[in-house]
Amino acid sequence: MAMNEIESDPLLQVEDLKVHFPVTEGVLGRKQVATVKAVDGVSFSLRSGETFSLVGESGCGKSTTALSVMRMLTPTAGRIAFAGEDITRHTPAMMRPIRRQIQMVYQDPFSSLNPRMKIADIIGEPLVVHGMASDKTFYRKQVAELMDLVGLLPNMADRYPHEFSGGQRQRVGIARALALRPRLIVCDEPVSALDVSIQAQIINLFMDLQQELGLTYLFIAHDISVVRHMSDRVAVMYLGKIVEMADRDALFDSPRHPYTQALLSAVPVADPAIESHRPQQLIVGEVPSVRNPPSGCRFHPRCVQAMEQCSQTAPELEANQQGHLTSCHLYGSAEGRLASAEVPG
Ligand SMILES: Nc1ncnc2c1ncn2[C@@H]1O[C@H](COP(=O)(O)OP(=O)(O)O)[C@@H](O)[C@H]1O
Ligand SMILES: [Mg+2]
Repeated sequence: MAMNEIESDPLLQVEDLKVHFPVTEGVLGRKQVATVKAVDGVSFSLRSGETFSLVGESGCGKSTTALSVMRMLTPTAGRIAFAGEDITRHTPAMMRPIRRQIQMVYQDPFSSLNPRMKIADIIGEPLVVHGMASDKTFYRKQVAELMDLVGLLPNMADRYPHEFSGGQRQRVGIARALALRPRLIVCDEPVSALDVSIQAQIINLFMDLQQELGLTYLFIAHDISVVRHMSDRVAVMYLGKIVEMADRDALFDSPRHPYTQALLSAVPVADPAIESHRPQQLIVGEVPSVRNPPSGCRFHPRCVQAMEQCSQTAPELEANQQGHLTSCHLYGSAEGRLASAEVPG
């Protein structure tokens, strides 16, 4: 899809989002000794009906971005708009009508739930909370419909979470997220805890539900291979910033940022002829602490293509003619700046 389509009808708009956490010390944590810039200037927008994926290693700020969109966190700076409404500073009361339209699916849907609740009650709870359960016939019909939507059998309604496999539990988590008929679902590593074969089933379920219900997904994963099948567009995050963002095929077929190339090189290729010829060593060392990020380009200490300027100046996120955004000095040419000037917004 073209950039202008995304810009003209965004369901969700995130502009220059910053979420900084104070690091405190001393009695009652009164002394602030540092700042964790968990998210440090992230912008993206979601067109209605698309799947936009955020990928990157653990600690790069994916969940903090998700919680900000859910407004379970208040951003330090920047702007979040849902269906054209600025919700950046909304109070819980102002968020209430919007809550129904934005739901979340977690990696472990039961970590925060009562293990003594039956599956049907877990799925129906959002309806109860939002006062939509007073008509018992309507309520039971809704829960049965939700179970059917996610492929759970009617005879499972009275069972408990511990009787279920990981994949079935995630189906329950998805049914619960669908209860209020949301428009946007924020999926924070929803398949990361599952076996690979089960991951594929749940990804297919997400795609089927999108077709049927016209859902929009913000889909988060640390494993880039997980998002390939279902994404329309992908953004790669590193230490609080987006370093590359493009249409799915462009990102996977011609990754530009050395970090994206490294993430993709870590994904095993099925064809042994390709496997034996591709470069292996594209990334060195561990992720540095976000408390003390490297100077210049935050990726430079781990980048096998780092140049002198990379430790000195941070590259801008710039678009090429195809709207493929990359934040890297390897591409910091006049061509890049020219193209970025043409991108609206
Ligand atoms: N409430 C918090 N207080 C302080 N630091 C936090 C808080 N939440 C997250 N962080 C830090 O922010 C960074 C990004 O975390 P997170 O968004 O959870 O990353 P991801 O989901 O990509 O693994 C990490 O360094 C994490 O330790
Ligand atoms: Mg996370």
